[in-house]
Parts: sequence; structure tokens; C-alpha cells
Amino acid sequence: MTFDYQVRDLALAEAGRHQIRLAEHEMPGLMSLREEFGPTQPLAGARIAGSLHMTVQTAVLIETLTALGAQVRWASCNIFSTQDEAAAAVVVGPQGTVDDPQGVPVFAWKGETLPEYWDCTVKILSWPNGESPNMILDDGGDATLLVHKGKEFEGAGAVPETTEADSEEYRVILDVLRASIASEPTKWTTIADGIQGVTEETTTGVHRLYQLAEAGELLFTAINVNDSVTKSKFDNKYGCRHSLLDGINRATDVLIGGKVALVAGFGDVGKGCADALRGQGARVIITEVDPICALQAAMEGYQVARLDDVVGDVDIFVTTTGCYDVITADHMSRMKHQAIVGNIGHFDNEIDMAGLARVPGVKRTEIKPQVHEWTFDDGRSIIVLSEGRLLNLGNATGHPSFVMSNSFSNQTIAQIELFTRGEEYPLGVHVLPKHLDEKVARLHLDALGVQLTELSKAQAEYLGVPVEGPYKPEHYRY
Ligand code: NAI
Repeated sequence: MTFDYQVRDLALAEAGRHQIRLAEHEMPGLMSLREEFGPTQPLAGARIAGSLHMTVQTAVLIETLTALGAQVRWASCNIFSTQDEAAAAVVVGPQGTVDDPQGVPVFAWKGETLPEYWDCTVKILSWPNGESPNMILDDGGDATLLVHKGKEFEGAGAVPETTEADSEEYRVILDVLRASIASEPTKWTTIADGIQGVTEETTTGVHRLYQLAEAGELLFTAINVNDSVTKSKFDNKYGCRHSLLDGINRATDVLIGGKVALVAGFGDVGKGCADALRGQGARVIITEVDPICALQAAMEGYQVARLDDVVGDVDIFVTTTGCYDVITADHMSRMKHQAIVGNIGHFDNEIDMAGLARVPGVKRTEIKPQVHEWTFDDGRSIIVLSEGRLLNLGNATGHPSFVMSNSFSNQTIAQIELFTRGEEYPLGVHVLPKHLDEKVARLHLDALGVQLTELSKAQAEYLGVPVEGPYKPEHYRY
């Protein structure tokens, strides 16, 4: 079998396959979905364009989707997050060899340039043999954005010229679309019209989808996977509680105990990050704009302050807001010597890297890939992780398998729902029904030795819930 793909080195496949094998044991949700749905092949006929960090855990997701009948093309949703051995193993496939790869077309490697990144995103949407994808699996919404912008520009008859105000990344997007439309004038309209739906992984991508829906511009229906309880209350919180420290440690190996750490944002990700840093003995300061989250942080015993007031006292800064310009160049120029600055939110604009580069006299030294020292003209320096991009995937390998099994079980169920029961999800943004959320949790109990108490019929009647669940009303917040 021949197919197109673009990864670092297929020779890494064996190392990747060993890691995938170990990850499968830690991903009981995905493995039981393979058992449950393998025989009926609910995703037969699905052509999924996937844009999500190409890690070992994602390899197990991809091979679950194909085990359920789907055809898949994959790219990473971040230039630094690919694990090259996982990408190679997915291309080779469990039955293939380096000389005869039989897996899935993957277009991803660690350390892509922005043009390469967007080219890879185009490739997952460009299917061979005159076919088009009919499903998107997205993380952060870049694949969805490309399809929406492509169709919009085709409708308008031209891709707009870039302006001074456009970010570097937006210029690249415009270039990529201009080139693709020049060679295929109705490419994006055809793709957009063929998409049955998208399942979106993260807070930032979901935010974009609701904005499109509110503006009446959403082209296909969407399932918000992020707001399954078994996603955001686990991956965002406990996943980041683990992988934030992994990233900081691999990047700097600085002792966290006794240091002052600042976490910007006390949502799900912020809560996990603050917990991790406190667990290491750091004194943690929170910044928040939302009074409810600020009060929660205070009740947890954290100091809640404004960044401007404490910027000179902090050793480690972590942004978790999904907002932009949270740490500005001015903040960075006022930080302590060798303060560590990192972001764990989805996009790199939480830290004003472009502004930092424009500070007069500032000098950038690469300590190692994804770790840079920025020295100001007075001799003080700061350490910036992953060039302001999410540090847990740039400096480490993202969340561990067990928590990603929860997220990716939601993804798999969401793909099955949209592909096989699309009529039940009209154009708009939906969350999975609660019984499926509870199902994902159930799939992970045995592995942890959890003994669930069962309601008696009389108790269930007393509470007004079915014996077999769902146990909570929609408005319950966990
Ligand atoms: P969230 O909405 O629960 O939390 C964000 C918090 O930041 C909110 O409480 C908000 O009030 C606060 N905030 C917004 N602007 C702020 C500002 N200027 N200063 C201080 N606080 C501010 O969102 P969640 O789920 O915690 O996600 C946060 C980001 O992390 C998103 O971009 C999401 O996509 C990303 N994410 C990254 C993961 C990773 O592995 N790196 C995993 C999961 C999510």
C-alpha cells in the first residue's frame, strides 16, 4: 500500500510502537470502546481529518478510530507537540514495516515552521482519489478555521491582501489559502459542504465554535467535547496538574519548593496548575478577572493579586487563561533575573512574544530547543519556555495516558454520535448527553479499583433519578 505522509523518521516507529503498547494498557476507555464497537464498525465510511497533538496517546486514539472502521488523516495542532516516534509508528501501523508502511497518513513532526504547520493542516483536509473528508476532529479549531476561511474567501472571489495589522500566523494562513485556491478554485467549498460535523477538544476551540454559531457563520454541526465533565474536569485539571511540572522540570530542572509561582487564570487548567505548584512547596499567587474564580482561589488559600503589583516578586509565571496579552513585554522587562515564563493555554498569544522581541537591546539565546534565555540590556534575563506556546506539550509530552483515555473516549463517542446519528444534532454546538459522560467515567473505574455504590430502587425513587443514571441534572457543576 502506498500513501502520502510526512514525519521526521520512520525508523523511530519501533520505539513509538513500544510506547503505544504501554499506553494502551493505561487507556482502558479507548480499549473497551474498541471491544464494544469493533464488531459493528460504526465509523465505516467516516473520513476523519484530525488536528490534535500527535502524541503517543493520540496514536491510541487514531488506532481506535480506524479499529471502528474510519479512514483517517492526521496533523498536530501545535508546531512543537509532536512525538516523532508516535507519528512514525502510526504511519507504519501495527501490521506494517518501515519499508511497507500500512498505517495512517500523518503530517506532523516536532519543530515545524508556521508555513509547514498550515501546509500539514491543508494536507489532512486534501484527500486522494477525488474524495473529501466528512468529519473533523479538532483541537483548538485550526482545521475548522481553515475550512471556514477557505469557503468564505472563495465566496468573496478573492483572499484578502495581508495588512500591517495581521499577525505573522494570519499572514501564513492567507498565503496557504491563496495558493490552494489558485490551484483549485472551489476546493474549500467542496470540503465545507462535505463535512457532517466536527468534534472539538479544547476550551479555546469551543470558544471559537460558539462565536461562529452566534454570528450565524457555523458551516457544520459541532460537538463540544471539552465540556463533557469527564474531559474538562479531568484532562484540563488533573492532566495539567501532572504535565505542567513535567514541562518545567524537563526544561529547567529548577527546584520549585520555596519559590514564588504565579498562575494567571483559575479555571480548570489554572486549578490543576496551582495545585501542582503548591504540592511542590511553591508559594502560589493567582490572578483572575472572574470574581467567582478569584473567590475560589482565595478559599483554597492562595493569594489573589494583580500581575502588575507582584511581577517583581515571582520566580515562575504560568498563563492558563485562553486570553491574550496576559503577560506583556513591559511585565517581562520588570521580572526578576532568570524568572521562568511559560504558557499552558492553547495559543501563544497569552505572552506577548512579538513585543518581547521588539524590546530595544534584548538578546535571545537558545539554551536548548524550546528553552530560551532573553537578556535585557541591563544584564538581567528571563527564561521563556516553548517560545510562549503550551509548555506541557513543547517541553514535555503532554498529559499521561490515563487522563487522555477519558478525553479521547469522549472524542470517539462524539465521532460515532455525529457520524451515525447526525440528524439528532442540528446545526449548532452540542455537548454529549450526560449518560455518555457517565459511561466514560464508568469505563475507567475498574482500572483504579473503584467500587461504586449502587442505588436501591427505593433510594433512586427518593432522589428522583433512574437506578442506572444519569444521576445529576444538566445544571449540576461537579
Ligand atoms: P477556563 O475558562 O476554565 O479558565 C480560564 C480562566 O482564566 C477563567 O477563569 C478566566 O476568568 C481567566 N482569565 C481570562 N482572562 C484572564 C486574564 N486576562 N487574567 C487573569 N485571568 C483571566 O478555561 P480552561 O479550561 O482552564 O482552559 C484554559 C486554556 O488552556 C484554554 O486555552 C484551553 O484551550 C487550554 N488547555 C490547555 C491544555 C494543555 O494541555 N496545555 C489542556 C486543556 C486546556
